[in-house]
Amino acid sequence: MEIGIPELQSPPSGWRRKHLLGLEELSAEEITIILDTAEVFRRLMNEGRRRIPLLENKTCVNLFFENSTRTRTSFALAARRLGADMIDFSAATSSLSKGETVVDTAKNLQAMGVEAVIVRHQTPGTPHLLAQHLACSVINAGDGPHEHPTQGLLDILTIRQRFGRIEGLTVALIGDIAHSRTARSDIWGLKKLGAHLIVCGPSTLVSPRWAELGVEYCYDLDEILPRVDVLNLLRIQFERQLTRPFPSVREYAHLYGMNRERLARAKPGILVLAPGPINRGVEVSPDVADGPHSAILTQVTNGVAIRMAVLWLLISGSRQVGS
Ligand code: CP
Repeated sequence: MEIGIPELQSPPSGWRRKHLLGLEELSAEEITIILDTAEVFRRLMNEGRRRIPLLENKTCVNLFFENSTRTRTSFALAARRLGADMIDFSAATSSLSKGETVVDTAKNLQAMGVEAVIVRHQTPGTPHLLAQHLACSVINAGDGPHEHPTQGLLDILTIRQRFGRIEGLTVALIGDIAHSRTARSDIWGLKKLGAHLIVCGPSTLVSPRWAELGVEYCYDLDEILPRVDVLNLLRIQFERQLTRPFPSVREYAHLYGMNRERLARAKPGILVLAPGPINRGVEVSPDVADGPHSAILTQVTNGVAIRMAVLWLLISGSRQVGS
């Protein structure tokens, strides 16, 4: 539908994607197209435009096999603001309990006429499997510890808004790197745009092998704080761990928790992010989470704009290139 906004006439010529499975496979140009498109949606929403009906008569389905507050809700909001219908699939009450596979479930949903399936699953690679079997667009909303591309994109957008650039910034990811899909998406996306990445946390959760990808690793948060522009504080994902990676949560908070004392030793303009959900008093103290350096809720607002951009680019773009 034509809505009179020049930037949203059609996806840019450099856009050829049908699926969004991870940031590893995207080029810097493609990432920039998504960020720039999200900025247009953000501007329109700031101007009070709640409905931008570019995807009228389209249908999306949220296919979530893991819990979610932010991702699930913001995809639903994004679809609605674009004029699309959103079906919210509930795994717990579906025919999966009767032995139907994830692929068959998705194929049946597609047969009812959907343009995009947004999938979150505990098994890495599930979105990639669905993309092989479905004709519609598939969006990865988190596949186990592998990738969470829209979280990575909204993190990058929030950083770019604050600093006006990504190139040359030093971004540190703190905590449970081993089990974090956000860490992987952030690393792929930010490195492509020219940031320097540091992963920092207990040695049981931070592998030296990150160095093979050009990522600095370290185990001492206080050592890196003075040279970091952005901190992304990751939640400890106990639900994905087979053994406890450190003696106690209290010790973890003492060594890696971001608090007022540490903030005083950081760069004055440091930006504090967290993908959420946050555990107050563990990876971040309440005064830092709610303080002026924190952009945690801005990330959530940006998440709606990023997901609007992704839905519009994938659904309109794939129709345009006929793929
Ligand atoms: N950051 C994130 O993915 O949050 P949810 O699990 O609530 O979607």
